Parts: sequence; C-alpha cells; structure tokens
Amino acid sequence: MTVQQKIIVAEGPAPSAATAAFLAADHRLFIGGRWVEAAEGGQLDVENPATGEIVARVPAGTAADIDAAVAAARQAFDHGPWSRMTPSERGRLVWKLADLLETHADEFAEIDSIDNGKPVTDARAVDVAFSCELLRYMAGWSTKIHGQTIALSSSAPFHAYTLREPVGVVGQIVPWNFPLMMAVWKVAPALAAGCTIVLKPAEQTPLSALRLAQLVEEAGFPAGVFNVVTGLGETAGAALAAHPDVDKVAFTGSTEVGKLILGAARGNLKKVSLELGGKSPVIVFPDADLDVALAGAASAIFYNMGQCCTAGSRLYVHRKVYDRLMAGMAAEAARLPVGVGLDPATRIGPLVSAEQLARVSGYIEAGQREGATVLTGGRRIGDRGFFLEPTVLTGTTPGMSVVREEIFGPVVCAMPFDDDDIDAIVAEANSSIYGLAASLYTRDLSKAHTVARRLKAGTIGVNVHHVVDVALPFGGFKQSGWGREMGYAAIELYTETKSIAVAL
Ligand code: NAI
Ligand code: MG
Repeated sequence: MTVQQKIIVAEGPAPSAATAAFLAADHRLFIGGRWVEAAEGGQLDVENPATGEIVARVPAGTAADIDAAVAAARQAFDHGPWSRMTPSERGRLVWKLADLLETHADEFAEIDSIDNGKPVTDARAVDVAFSCELLRYMAGWSTKIHGQTIALSSSAPFHAYTLREPVGVVGQIVPWNFPLMMAVWKVAPALAAGCTIVLKPAEQTPLSALRLAQLVEEAGFPAGVFNVVTGLGETAGAALAAHPDVDKVAFTGSTEVGKLILGAARGNLKKVSLELGGKSPVIVFPDADLDVALAGAASAIFYNMGQCCTAGSRLYVHRKVYDRLMAGMAAEAARLPVGVGLDPATRIGPLVSAEQLARVSGYIEAGQREGATVLTGGRRIGDRGFFLEPTVLTGTTPGMSVVREEIFGPVVCAMPFDDDDIDAIVAEANSSIYGLAASLYTRDLSKAHTVARRLKAGTIGVNVHHVVDVALPFGGFKQSGWGREMGYAAIELYTETKSIAVAL
C-alpha cells in the first residue's frame, strides 16, 4: 500500500516580530542573575530543522561555566533571600512566572516550533499550555509541603516529627523533544520546593530555556535561584552530573545517557531521578471501539513525529480487527499535513535534526533487512529539512531491532495476535527492557482493569494513549527511569525528609 503524503508548505509564515527579535539577539548564559558569555568563548549553532538554516547561536558552556552556575546556586540556596522566603512568597513567584509565560505563550510556541520543528499549534496547545498549568499546580504545593508528627514506639516520652526540606542545589538536564515543557517539568517542582537550579537544555533546542530565564528575571526571583548553561551534553551536561556541590541531578533523555548520569553521580552520591526511554505497547482487543483505538494508536506514534518518550511504538492488534486498523493507520498517516511547524495547519513537522533523521531512517532500513514490510511511509520527504513520512511496519517479530529498541521517530511496528489468552499478550507487551507507558483498547471493563494491572509500565491508558497530567505521577518501570514527576511525587523528588525527636 502506498500513500501520497500531503505536503502543505515549503516555506511557512515568518515568525512574529517578538520571536524574530529574540532569535537575532546576542544569547548568553544566565548565571547568578547576570547574562554572561561562556568562559571559553565557544558558541553552538542553533538550527531550524524545517530548513536546515542556522537561526541563532548560543554559548557553548563548559565545566568552568557549570562551576560558576553551581556556585551561584549554592550561594542563593545557603545565603540568599530565597532560603528566607516564606512558602507563600515562593509560591507567588512561581505563579507569577506562569502568568508571564502565558502572556508570552505565542512567542514560546514559535520559538520551540522553530527550534524543534514541531507544529506551532501543538507547541501552543500542549507544550506552553501544560507548562503554565504545571507552574500553577506546583505553585500551589509550595504552601502545602509539610512533615508529620510521629508516635514513637519507644517507652520513653518523645515528641517526634518530620520536616520536608528542599534537597538543595539541583542540576537539571533536559532533552529536545519538548524543549520548554521538559524544562518546566523539572523547574516547577524544584522552585516550589525551595531548591536552586542549574538547567542544561539540549544542544539541539536551547532557545526557550534562555527565554524562560528572561521571564524568571522579570518575575523577580532572587539572583542565583535559576541558572541556565547551554552547551553540549558530554561537556556541560557531564560536568553538571558529576559536580561535587550539586545535591541532586534530574535527567530526561536516553537510557544510555541516563546510565552515564548515574555513574557521574557516584562521586558525591547526589540524588538522582531519571526519565528515560520507552518502547510502549498499544494493545487493541477485538471488542474495542475501533475509531477510538485508531485515533489512539495513530497519535501514540505520530504525535510530535514520534519523538515522545511514551510513543506507542509496538502496536498489537487482534487478528479480527487487524486489517481494518491497518487501513486506518495508513489513511491517517496520509491525511496528516506535513510542513513547516510555523504553519498553523501543519500536523507533522520535521524530525529534530539530520542526525535523528539518519537514526530513524537507519531503523527503517534495518527493519526491512530483518524481514519487516513497509505498509506505509518509510521515505524522507523532500531534500530540505529533516522530514520523514509517518511509517507503519508490518511483519515484525519480537527479535527485530525495530521491535526491541527505542526508535524515537514516527515508526510503529504493527503485530497481529490471534488468541484471546490474556497471559500471552500481556507477556508479549511486557517483553521489553523499558516500562514507561502502555495503552489498551477494549469495551470490557474487567479486561481493561485486569490487563492494566498486569502491564509493567508507569502510565497505562485505557482507551487513550498519551496520558500526562500535572497531577498524575509520571515515570518509568525497569530501564525507563527512577522516580516520578508530576503530582506530589515531584515535590518528594526535590525534598529530603528530616526526623526530629525531642526527649520530653
Ligand atoms: P541524549 O540522552 O544524549 O540527550 C538528552 C540530554 O542529555 C541533552 O541535554 C544532552 O545534552 C544531555 N547529555 C548527553 N550526553 C550527556 C552526558 N554524557 N552527560 C550529561 N548529559 C548529557 O539524547 P540524544 O542523543 O539527543 O538522542 C538519542 C536518543 O535518545 C533518541 O533517539 C531517543 O531514542 C533517546 N531520547 C529519549 C528521550 C526521552 O524523552 N525518553 C529524549 C531525547 C532522546
Ligand atoms: Mg546523545
């Protein structure tokens, strides 16, 4: 089956004047409340993946800049006005940051669209809107972080209680797939908890973090509470993860780098939280509402060009409905307008980089070599930018690299199943080193809950795939990570429990 991809624009509209001015500005690191050049003076090109053009340059921060940023964060944590603020004052600042972000929502959506390639419509409706929501949600926790009084088992009289204190200086290393949102996932709870931050955005998408730092300054956070060092992972990122004066490192990215972070954290045994890769299964039972299942399965892999840690990249469909669902997936792949992210009609933008296009295309080729069939898609679109057709692979088997490994592109492996034996399909779905998300489609309430309980993943959607909410704990089983973000679980990640006992 071949489908003709609908390509809407080659150029796309120009960004707003505000966005254009920001792109053209002289970008610097934000350290200790000041805008400074990188110590070694290096710069990194920032590319628009829809065109391959360089749209900005940012400082290539190195270990020396990380040292300076950590020192500023330490000073702000140990001695600054931040540590003396009341929870209510802290919460109001975080809320103010949300208000400022909302005021500049269109600009942030454009910046992430240009930097990452994603549809501006999605950036506005999801990345920016969720970031505002999360800042407000976490602002609310600021005043509700407290310990407990504990009845001791000792026979002597004691008054004992716990406090939850901010963990201290935190290093946050984030990826490029949701540039602003991944930063805010980490920044919002850390600020609410009273930590100070050194943020290292991904080298592919550093711009919205720098714009966010401007809003942090405008909101009136004390100097040193929030610092941004742009730079490469293996230099700035590695220095931050290894830094002896960082109390905690929070990372989102590949499982491979997650393991490096863990190694780097060994030196001072800093606390570590990790949101890593996934290979999430989508299971469609024969009694499912097929329209719902199709919408879920398609967005599971095509949303954000499949560059989602929760991407539903293994699609298990009961044989009875397999052909219908496959026809629907192919039609959906062809229907989604491909184009420059800034065009509001675009649903599929480019992949983030030439490297990512090569990596994803390499998986498609490997899959075919190993015996998979391309049902739809599979090819690069045009020769400008890094566009790839939404792709459905069939004839895939459990041993293939495309079934085992995270591809991080719009490529799904579809596999029919025959029997109604829940054990078999659950075992197949769970046969992965990852365990971030899963979804299942059925009208049978009992089957839904039974299967949801047995799937080994941090987030399970029933009749829906991408489930993310500011209040719902999010994180991975197995090699998909350590810890949970969102909800009160995120506050726990950024606080330490202290026990105090008073002999009466
Ligand atoms: P990556 O894991 O290398 O990059 C994520 C972040 O880690 C970036 O900020 C990067 O600068 C930083 N980093 C890289 N090496 C580091 C190091 N040694 N020490 C400290 N920080 C370091 O991901 P990359 O290379 O951009 O993408 C490769 C693959 O990783 C993708 O194809 C995808 O499979 C996976 N990935 C998964 C993500 C997720 O959300 N689960 C996000 C991004 C990538
Ligand atoms: Mg990497």
